[in-house]
Amino acid sequence: MKFNVVQGDIAQQESDCIIVNLFEGVTQPTAATGVVDKALGGVIHDLIASGDFTGEAGDTALLYTGGRLPAKRVLVVGLGQQDEFDLNSVRKAGAAAAKRLNGVKGVSNCATIVHGAGFAGIEAAAAAQALVEGMLLAVYKPPQYKRKPDESRLIDCAIVEFNKNKLGAVQDGVDAGRIIGEAVSGARDLSSEPANILYPAEFARRAQDMARRTGLHCTVLGEDEMRELGMNIYLAVSQGSANEAQLIILEHTPPGAEADPPLVLVGKGVTFDTGGISIKPSANMWYMKDDMGGAGAVVSAMEAIARLNLPKRVIGVAGTVENMPDGKAFRPGDILTGITGKTTEIISTDAEGRLILADMLGYVARFEPRAVVDLATLTGAIGVALGPQAAGLFVNDDELKDGLLAAAEASGERLWHMPLYDEYKEAIKSDMAEVKNSGGRGGGVGTSAKYLEHFTEGYPWAHLDIATMTWAKKSPNAYTPTGATGFGVRLLVELVKGY
Ligand code: BES
Ligand code: MN
Ligand code: ZN
Repeated sequence: MKFNVVQGDIAQQESDCIIVNLFEGVTQPTAATGVVDKALGGVIHDLIASGDFTGEAGDTALLYTGGRLPAKRVLVVGLGQQDEFDLNSVRKAGAAAAKRLNGVKGVSNCATIVHGAGFAGIEAAAAAQALVEGMLLAVYKPPQYKRKPDESRLIDCAIVEFNKNKLGAVQDGVDAGRIIGEAVSGARDLSSEPANILYPAEFARRAQDMARRTGLHCTVLGEDEMRELGMNIYLAVSQGSANEAQLIILEHTPPGAEADPPLVLVGKGVTFDTGGISIKPSANMWYMKDDMGGAGAVVSAMEAIARLNLPKRVIGVAGTVENMPDGKAFRPGDILTGITGKTTEIISTDAEGRLILADMLGYVARFEPRAVVDLATLTGAIGVALGPQAAGLFVNDDELKDGLLAAAEASGERLWHMPLYDEYKEAIKSDMAEVKNSGGRGGGVGTSAKYLEHFTEGYPWAHLDIATMTWAKKSPNAYTPTGATGFGVRLLVELVKGY
């Protein structure tokens, strides 16, 4: 979708469809919606009076202008209750409109007002950004391998602002919304790609291409280099795979920030998780092509951070690997020593995410980070605890916790704070090594986080278990279709902005 900012009156736009809005409970439309209503002889008023349209959030009504306006159609979108209205309502309203119009055969362009730009407490730039994010993400289609690809019909969108003084802010917001929307779409693409196409070396190649385009500094370590560094816990996961593991390091260093302690983002990038020798049941195993969602979010967030020129030093580390069973594969019972010198016993080769993270969390200490945040599709247990409503947040520092919760609030990507009780250590005690990689079913998500904490040293750290967030079995909202969600990108961008 292409967006261009236009100064003018929405009612006067020549377009396949103009988009206006309505709060729940309003009986007489005002402002832009009022002007359109008058031009159409009161049909929007009738629409409300008939009870067919209440302005409930996400509701849409498509009307035909019959030549009474330059546009062919008018779409009215509901904004919900005024006292519940926030930026996420704007994102949802934009998404609901784009989704509705994308299904109409004769519509290839539209013109919309910036929902919320005139609303108390919402800045025009932020509203425009949320609007563009919502519209772009609602019409997302995964990479297509069909001879007749599924495409979005909606191509062009004019963002119409009447107030000349707000035009600059609206343009800034549209630019940011486009960058972030494209980054989230990129993360969705990575999660959607099957493992025969997106294996570790291909993932690294895409990250390198992106770095070249955006000016990020990119380093890729292969298995020999990782062995040199002593990353043997990580490499064990790769042992059974014909595809070589790749550790991707992306660096964003704004001028003058060279000496600042960086914020380090770490992502689990298991391009396919069979479980290894502790093999998974075959039903639904195909979902495990998205076991790289953490790495995808980190790489795509770095892309957005670079394109937005955020003035903070940030390093993204994406660890890619394939977890496969074969004659060379690592086994339950194996004992390994990683980059930190700390040792672990393997109970399940299917608890592989925490293994690659153990060595990545050790590796990043060299950057003397201001803080480290890892994102990982780590456990099924987080889904049992929270469902697909929120990612689990484990954190050992209050300032980082507050930064993440604020970013979650601002981005609409929910986090729920979970405990890191010391008692969880009991379950992962090993007779022969320092820790074992599975603590059993009870408290499975807490013990996984405690395992990771064992390998962190010298920096504030947070772990986000996003196992149930990267893939939506059912569309959770208008801007997130079923399938890959790109969860974490918007959250990380907000974190970098605010922390
Ligand atoms: N990638 C899985 C976690 C997962 C499960 C992600 C469902 C998305 C949906 C992870 O590697 C895994 O297999 N975890 C095991 C850990 C157990 C063996 C301790 C799990 O959660 O069952
Ligand atoms: Mn696994
Ligand atoms: Zn996994």
